[in-house]
Amino acid sequence: MVEPWKQKGELRLPPTILGVCLTITDEAELDGLKEIGRIVAQTLEAMGKAIEPGMTTRELDDIGRKLLEQAGALSAPETLYQFPAATCISINEEVAHGIPGDRVILAGDLINIDVSAEKGGFFGDTGASFAGPPIAKPVARLLRDGKRALWTGLRQVGSGRPYRAIGDEIGTFARKNRYTLIENLASHGIGRSLHEYPDHISTHPDPSESRIMEDGVVFTVEPFLSLGANHALSSGLDKWTLVSEPRALTVQFEHTVVATKNGPLILTLPG
Ligand code: CO
Ligand code: CO
Repeated sequence: MVEPWKQKGELRLPPTILGVCLTITDEAELDGLKEIGRIVAQTLEAMGKAIEPGMTTRELDDIGRKLLEQAGALSAPETLYQFPAATCISINEEVAHGIPGDRVILAGDLINIDVSAEKGGFFGDTGASFAGPPIAKPVARLLRDGKRALWTGLRQVGSGRPYRAIGDEIGTFARKNRYTLIENLASHGIGRSLHEYPDHISTHPDPSESRIMEDGVVFTVEPFLSLGANHALSSGLDKWTLVSEPRALTVQFEHTVVATKNGPLILTLPG
């Protein structure tokens, strides 16, 4: 799940336990974060594999809900924000926070799934975009490069390093490869809640960003790479779904990561 950018008041999430900051100081905390990280990663992977044309997004969400339940985890958007489903599923023109429902997945659709959940007081958050055959060439390229944009950002993570490097490097990658980035959605601190300090981590170049990553700080990296959009707007259909502006296909890939002395420690790998 993404954090709306601070200037866009209308996209603000409901308030939650902000101001909490989880900086990992012991092994038990790291174990708790690793466990929920693996759970959300495995759920996302299984949902991606289950995508089939003809199924509804609600059916896909049900698969995710069951897997979270079986692992003893609770959907974070549902419990924290009363989001009306277990996971966010956004299709084609939708960028983020799409509500699973009656929409039928069609062959060739671009589908983003974002899974965030809690277990034992620890939170994990991961997302990815998928497409089923037939995949148009520009879409296949966008999917490949969306992952590359995420890893470009992740490589900048490490204690003592500037947050600004994440947005700068992703910005350079996007420009070189002729993509745009959604600029009013941000990555976010996570750990003891879904959205906490450090808030509003930019995944595009942001000259006002001057913070330095503390050792053990936990946050997401989730750039939105697009074939032309640079903003996300409310769809007007409900209070959640965000659509691209101008309308253009957009992908998101997200990991939860710890900044360590040795660089990034990715928590949301399926293992
Ligand atoms: Co997410
Ligand atoms: Co997120």
